[in-house]
Amino acid sequence: MNVRFGPSAGLTGELTAPPDKSISHRAALLGAMASYPVRIENYLHAADTTSTLEAVRALGALVEVRPGEVIVRGAGLREAREPDGPIDVGNAGTLLRLLPGWLAAQDGRTFTLDGDASIRRRPVDRVAEPLRLMGATVTASNERFPPLTVRGGRLHSISYELPVASAQVKSCVLLAALAADGATTVGEPARSRDHTERMLLCAGVTIHRNGRHVTVVNADELVLERVAVPSDPSSAAFAIAAGVLVPGSRLLIRDVGVNWTRTGFLRILRRMQGIVLGDLENESGELSAAEPISDLDIAHGALEGTVVEPEEVPLAIDELPLLALLGCFAEGDTVVRGAQELRLKESDRIATVVAGLRGLGGDIEATEDGFVVHGSGGLRGGIIDAAGDHRLAMMGAVAGLASREGVEVIGMEAAEVSYPGFVEDLERLC
Ligand code: S3P
Repeated sequence: MNVRFGPSAGLTGELTAPPDKSISHRAALLGAMASYPVRIENYLHAADTTSTLEAVRALGALVEVRPGEVIVRGAGLREAREPDGPIDVGNAGTLLRLLPGWLAAQDGRTFTLDGDASIRRRPVDRVAEPLRLMGATVTASNERFPPLTVRGGRLHSISYELPVASAQVKSCVLLAALAADGATTVGEPARSRDHTERMLLCAGVTIHRNGRHVTVVNADELVLERVAVPSDPSSAAFAIAAGVLVPGSRLLIRDVGVNWTRTGFLRILRRMQGIVLGDLENESGELSAAEPISDLDIAHGALEGTVVEPEEVPLAIDELPLLALLGCFAEGDTVVRGAQELRLKESDRIATVVAGLRGLGGDIEATEDGFVVHGSGGLRGGIIDAAGDHRLAMMGAVAGLASREGVEVIGMEAAEVSYPGFVEDLERLC
């Protein structure tokens, strides 16, 4: 589906962004691992998170979708059912990386995970290695890519240093650790989103954070009564970027998640002089069970370029394409460093963002681990191919609203994996 986004007058009004994708995946998975029913309020019904509901059903959980909520009656920590065939994760990288953590603990049972063409180029060696160290048998195509097969075992606790900062890999090890024989510690080179840790705390698990290390003690069972999913800051980021870029804009973003491990984009945007008012959670060394929310007031204003440092990258990883777009409109250069992980997302996001923005008239260069954008006061417009990547499709749409001549996005349907109704939301605000 190709959609054209013409230059817009100021965006105005209120937006409640869709429910958080990361938290929805985790709530469904923990629900499936729990011993009693879990009520998930405001679950995201999008392609990626529907794949997760289907996966946990195939593994023996009962899933009941009601208006405004999903009830998951779990199979239990060690009682996942061996399905008849492969589990289809669709396009969902988070499901692909988190689910093996639970499956690794299913002693003597074998599970295969596979997905679409994009999933087959997402590396899984990063989860295979720690799970093998814990005692599971894991095989992958060329040792690295899906289909991924996990044969569960009796798991040992480990101390594991992640080679890359990845919330997905950290979460996989933490889920496996629940069924291990002691306390497991995971270290990350830089802090990444901590939704799994917060939800485990809610589920009665003993879990501690000490700087870049998190330790989880094995558990007999998970008891999680209710999860309320906030609006997704990564989805809200598209309207926020449009509001900042299009002259005359004034937006109110309602009830969005402001967990500090997800608001790196907003902090960087404020550093660029973007007008973003709201109560962001402060960085904390302590673990908290809550997922804080806030309203955000957004207004158009001039932007200045900035340098995004490697330790900021995991806290803004999904919003880096938008920062590249903002950089095109800013005064001076915007530089992103230490973001080689972008090459392993739904597309190689360094290559696709740079090619996409250049095609619209942007002055941007790829580097090995990021990009350098030379602010040129705006974008001409043109055609951008979403390359099957939801975040690229939505970045193209925002670029169109802020451009001089408009942008046609090829493959706009990619947005459905995380943001159903995205085009309608934008049209309503324009
Ligand atoms: C996610 C973590 C990030 C992010 C992805 C969702 C999660 O991936 O890019 O969209 O829910 O844990 P990595 O952990 O691989 O950086």
